[in-house]
Amino acid sequence: VKVGRRVFVTGGTAGIGLATARALAARGDQVFVCARDAARLAATGLPGATCDVRDAAQLGRVAAAAAECMGGIDALVNSAGIAWITPFEAIAPEAFASILAVNLAGTFNACHVALPFLKQAAATGQADIVNLGSRSGRYAFKGGVGYNTTKFGLQGFTEALFLDLAPLGIRVGLVAPGTVGTGLGGTAPESWHLAPEDVAGAILALLDADRRASLNWIELRPARPPA
Ligand SMILES: NC(=O)c1ccc[n+]([C@@H]2O[C@H](COP(=O)([O-])OP(=O)(O)OC[C@H]3O[C@@H](n4cnc5c(N)ncnc54)[C@H](OP(=O)(O)O)[C@@H]3O)[C@@H](O)[C@H]2O)c1
Repeated sequence: VKVGRRVFVTGGTAGIGLATARALAARGDQVFVCARDAARLAATGLPGATCDVRDAAQLGRVAAAAAECMGGIDALVNSAGIAWITPFEAIAPEAFASILAVNLAGTFNACHVALPFLKQAAATGQADIVNLGSRSGRYAFKGGVGYNTTKFGLQGFTEALFLDLAPLGIRVGLVAPGTVGTGLGGTAPESWHLAPEDVAGAILALLDADRRASLNWIELRPARPPA
């Protein structure tokens, strides 16, 4: 494992993104996190900046700050995301546009602004993008018209982006967990849920795979769901 990675983590102030940033920092990698809430960012004690991934221009400035802080970016982890469960009839067009903007376009925006830095890193050895998909990207649930659409979309986005970036030496993969006990979307954490650290482990596995190999897709689910 080559340590000393320089990893930009969107949504790195809570849940899976924070667990990933902490796991990387603990082993000596550099991290730079972003999310919207300044107090939560400050509480992490990690280097970072406030940012809304829906705003590509703002995200571009934050990616530049991340590169400045770490001396470059050789990995991007896209963990910024939102979720809600709402029956189709009750979803306002604005709400639908908003979940697409955060989960889908926000991931596109981060990949887009990080690309120049990742290209530089690839030229000297390693560059990776890890997107947060979900089992909800393969299986629909009732009330999932908003969330399922974004997670199914992220699978296609990730696979297509891999094809575009592989010739540049940039790997692109997706981690697709079942329910993680972060409280996302108002789901109350249960003892049998995955822990954010479990998902962080899968993200590190993608980053750490030998450069010959690309771990494109890892699905993980709670091993002991209730009977
Ligand atoms: N929890 C699960 O069961 C589960 C399962 C499968 C996949 N996932 C996926 O994993 C990812 C992380 O989920 P999580 O459970 O860790 O959620 P979480 O604990 O709610 O953390 C989400 C993070 O994203 C940030 N964020 C939200 N909207 C943002 C925006 N517009 N711009 C920038 N940052 C934003 C949040 O901070 P601010 O609110 O301060 O911006 C927070 O740091 C999501 O993509 C989610 O879909 C989660």
